Amino acid sequence: MKFMSKTLGGAAALALTVLSGVAAQAEEFRLGLITPPPHIWTKAAEAFGADLSAASDGAHTVTVFPARQLGNEAEMLQQLQTGALDMAFMTVAEVSNRAQDFGAFYAPFLAADIDHAGRILRSDFANGMLDQLPAEVGVVGTGYGMAGLRQIVTRGSVSSADDLAGLKLRITPFEPILDFYNALGAAPTPMPLPAVYEALANGQVDAIDMDAELIWVLKYYEHADTVVQSNHMMFPMVGLVSARVWAGLSADDRAMIGDLMAKHVDSTIDTYVAKDRDWLAQVRDTGKTYIEVDQAFFGDAVDQWNTIWAEKSSALDGLRAVAADTAN
Ligand code: BEZ
Repeated sequence: MKFMSKTLGGAAALALTVLSGVAAQAEEFRLGLITPPPHIWTKAAEAFGADLSAASDGAHTVTVFPARQLGNEAEMLQQLQTGALDMAFMTVAEVSNRAQDFGAFYAPFLAADIDHAGRILRSDFANGMLDQLPAEVGVVGTGYGMAGLRQIVTRGSVSSADDLAGLKLRITPFEPILDFYNALGAAPTPMPLPAVYEALANGQVDAIDMDAELIWVLKYYEHADTVVQSNHMMFPMVGLVSARVWAGLSADDRAMIGDLMAKHVDSTIDTYVAKDRDWLAQVRDTGKTYIEVDQAFFGDAVDQWNTIWAEKSSALDGLRAVAADTAN
C-alpha cells in the first residue's frame, strides 16, 4: 500500500479532515488473482476498483494483477499476511488450506443446483465463518463469490465411476477435492489453473475437475471424449483484504472498501447463476459424449468424504443446516 495524501485537493482534504475528524489519506491498492483478464472474477475486480475510485472521489485506486502475475494463490495469501499485497479475490479452496473449517463448502452435493449454491453462500452462517479469518489467516474476508459447480472432463470414455479409477485427474490443489477423488480410486493430480489446458491437450492428465464456464470458454472440451455433468461441488471465491492493511484504514474506508468489495464478489454469484446452465448446454451441443449424473453415480465416495470431513471441519453441520433451510 502506498500513501499519496496529495491526491485530494488541499481544500477538499481540509474539509474532509474537519468533517470526519480523520486525516484524509489516499491510497493505491494492489489486488491479485489467478484468473485471466477476461474471466468473470477479473472483471468483477476491475469493476470494484472503478467503484472504489468513484466512491472516494478518486482518492483510492486499485490496480488489478490477474493471471498469477503476483504468484500463485498460496504465495498471494502469504503476501496478504505480511501486508506486501493489499487485496485478493481468491478461491475458498486456498483459504481452506489454512482454515480447515472452510473445507465444508466442498461437501459433495451440498448444493442441489447453482441457485442453491448461491443461497448457501449468501447465508448469515457462511458469512459468519469469515469472522475467523483475521485471527487464523491474517486476512479480512469481505464476502463470497463463486465459479459455478464442478464437472468432470475426460480424454477417454466414461460411463460409470469405475471408469474414473486410476485416471490421472487434474484437481485444484486443496484437500477436500483430493479426498473426494481418492475415495473414488482416481489418481488426483493437483495442478494450478494456467497449466490445465496444455496438460489435458498433451495427455499429461487423463481428466480434469473443472467448472462449466472454463470448459466452454477455454475450450477444454476440445481435448475430451466425455463430459460428465455432475455438479458435484460448489466452487466459492472470497474477497480478501490484508488484515495488516485493514488495521491501517480509517473506519470510513473500511466500511466503503468492505461494502464495495462484498458487492462485487457477490455479483459473480448472479453471473454464474445466470450463465452456468447455458455454458453446459453449449458444451452438450458440441456433440461430445455428454452424460448427466447424480450422487448415485459416485457410489460410497460421498459417504466416505462426509466421514472424513466430519472430523476435519466444525462447520459441516452448520452448512448442512443452511443447505436444508435454503433448499427451495
Ligand atoms: C480451478 O482451479 O479450477 C479454478 C480456479 C479459479 C477459478 C476457476 C477455476
